[in-house]
Amino acid sequence: MSATVDGPIGLFDSGVGGLTVARALADRLPGERLLYFGDTAHLPYGDKSPEAIRGYSLAIAQHLVDLGAKAIVVACNSASSVAYDALVNALSVPVFNVIDPVVAEVARLGVQRVGIWGTKATIKSGVFPAKLAAQAPDAAVRAWATPLLVPVIEENILQGPILDAVIDGYARPTEAEDVDALVLACTHYPIVAAQIGQRMGRDVALLSTPQIVAEHVALALEAQGLLRVAAGPVDSHQFMVSDYTPAFEAIAQQFFGEAIALREDHLWG
Ligand code: DGL
Repeated sequence: MSATVDGPIGLFDSGVGGLTVARALADRLPGERLLYFGDTAHLPYGDKSPEAIRGYSLAIAQHLVDLGAKAIVVACNSASSVAYDALVNALSVPVFNVIDPVVAEVARLGVQRVGIWGTKATIKSGVFPAKLAAQAPDAAVRAWATPLLVPVIEENILQGPILDAVIDGYARPTEAEDVDALVLACTHYPIVAAQIGQRMGRDVALLSTPQIVAEHVALALEAQGLLRVAAGPVDSHQFMVSDYTPAFEAIAQQFFGEAIALREDHLWG
């Protein structure tokens, strides 16, 4: 099927994290249909090699394009860090990552001391400091891998002592650096943004990446003439996973904020 303006926007992540971006996109663009793929068979991405993440990302994104996606949003910082260029080269539709719009926002806000929390893959890639050095050269950047947050969130532990202990462990080195703003550079983290914000205190601004990314995608699709023009209600969004479990379905609903039907997709055979 070839892509048309009435085609869906494709998004993918390793699991539920990208649903924070899907939620923000659905709110910002209520006339658009979303086609979401959570690669639960390979979760977490943050511990994988760049080559593995690139391979998964290329296969999933091409699959979404084959299903009619008119654009791809890489709703995962780990994949955005190591696979974005390969995706742009390989695909025939516009591709958006979750890093560039956030870097632009840090530059726009003139943040002086910015902290980054992300997966090991994201932090090891050095992509955030490199892009910030180019776009916000006056900002001092400190980055920390905070990988334990993903399994805790995927366990649906969204409050309580286990989550608090993990956040506290990561907050200590971060507060020692006296950052003005903290980028939650993993699409899983916004679901516990309130808890992170409470621990970091009011002097640290948390950058809400799903909204920043949704705004960027909306403006870019409009500029490219790719926003859906057809009148009438949008078909329902579709959510696919590479390995279905009831637990994933429960937390997916919580992330997206409404009941969703998940279906297992056998992309990997
Ligand atoms: N949500 C993803 C990210 O933004 C991936 C987390 C993971 O699978 O490690 O990096």
